[in-house]
Amino acid sequence: MPLWDGRFSEGPDALVLRLSESISYDRRLYPFDLQGSAAHAKMLAHQGIIPQEDADKILAGLEQIKGELDRGEFVFRTELEDIHMNIESRLTELIGAPGARLHTGRSRNDQIATDERLFLRHEVDRIRKELRDFQKALWKLGNDNSQAIMPGFTHLQHAQPVLFAHHLLAYVEMLERDRERLADCRHRINRLPLGAGALAGSTLPLNREFVAKELGFEAVLQNSMDAVADRDESIEFLADLALVSMHLSRFAEDVAIWFSQEFAFVEIGDAFTTGSSLMPQKKNPDMAELTRGKTGRVYGALMSLLTTLKGLPLTYNRDLQEDKEGLFDAVDTVSLVLRTLTAMLSTVRPRAGRMAEAASDPSLMATDLAEALVKQGVPFREAHHQVGRFVGACTARGITLAQATLELMKESIPTAVPEFLAIFQAAHSVAARDLTGGTAPVQVAAQLSKWGRRFEEEKE
Ligand code: ARG
Repeated sequence: MPLWDGRFSEGPDALVLRLSESISYDRRLYPFDLQGSAAHAKMLAHQGIIPQEDADKILAGLEQIKGELDRGEFVFRTELEDIHMNIESRLTELIGAPGARLHTGRSRNDQIATDERLFLRHEVDRIRKELRDFQKALWKLGNDNSQAIMPGFTHLQHAQPVLFAHHLLAYVEMLERDRERLADCRHRINRLPLGAGALAGSTLPLNREFVAKELGFEAVLQNSMDAVADRDESIEFLADLALVSMHLSRFAEDVAIWFSQEFAFVEIGDAFTTGSSLMPQKKNPDMAELTRGKTGRVYGALMSLLTTLKGLPLTYNRDLQEDKEGLFDAVDTVSLVLRTLTAMLSTVRPRAGRMAEAASDPSLMATDLAEALVKQGVPFREAHHQVGRFVGACTARGITLAQATLELMKESIPTAVPEFLAIFQAAHSVAARDLTGGTAPVQVAAQLSKWGRRFEEEKE
């Protein structure tokens, strides 16, 4: 019979058990459930609500249960529904009467909210660390190939030459904002629900500040109904993970494009590519594709939890039990993808020759020519027009911009001077973009060393 069976004359139907159990997945919260229970027991004794000897027995019993769970010896019972009742029931089995005092002044409603916040705090720290590792891998690839030039794209069309490292550092920046968001979200996660009871607090002299300190929470949630009813901290975390996934998915798409035969900008190690069961010649970037594909599940978890909450009257409703599986899946997915991409990056080699060749198309320097005219005092719109005419004239003759003579150039650009003929070099083009955030090698080198120093300092 369940632990709440006092007023019932018969046990639940088998289907009821199947629909209501959460032990099959909330078991992974056990370290946090144990942590929360230990803090609660200490507080109960500190406040004189239960005898100190009982608290000591409870703490010893929880330790023993932790051992059983860590070693995989704990026997989970579906009829006990969830991780809270499985642990409490085992505790009473082990230590007898004192075990029955643990749930004093506590409800599973404030208990699960506490467990989840401890879990989320732990996962935020893990994902931030894994994001950092991925940033380091991006940085290393850029740093090892700091001179490689490639075409930058808009509309997936060649736009202007950029450094390969500049492209990689763009992701380092995006992921840094993801890390900041997670750090910010951590403050809102890191508040204590326990003491809220089922919804209205307790008639017992509980000490919530004591428990908060014991569990390392920054604050105590100030409204007992809010504490048990909301899950906005989980939603915020999922939204942050959705953004991480979106960034990883875009990176994966870049890699898949770079790895295609048409581009052939990068090589990927055999261990991180896969073959075809039919076509013997194939080497596919499946890890990039799966990264892209897994993004949908993470967005799904966010939508699912938002939807679960939208119509719920205050306070706790059993619907809230549905907050877990999507959350667990999302965080596991993001973590696995992050670790795989980090490992994959260490096998990625740019094909600098191919990239340089693609970036050498003189038309990529058309903007540079227009800006040279601006430096002569020509209004930009007029400069843009003149260069456009010049591009048209070259195209009509079937030559590249770099093959044009000064005479031909002058037909479209009356103020053209011989130096303009030297503009059509990718290296010249990137070097000229020497401003904050630009792709000039000196700027990129400064960014690389800034990040390098930052990673170094964190080690100390
Ligand atoms: N397993 C439940 C959940 O995850 C714990 C809280 C159950 N509370 C209740 N009153 N039935 O939400």
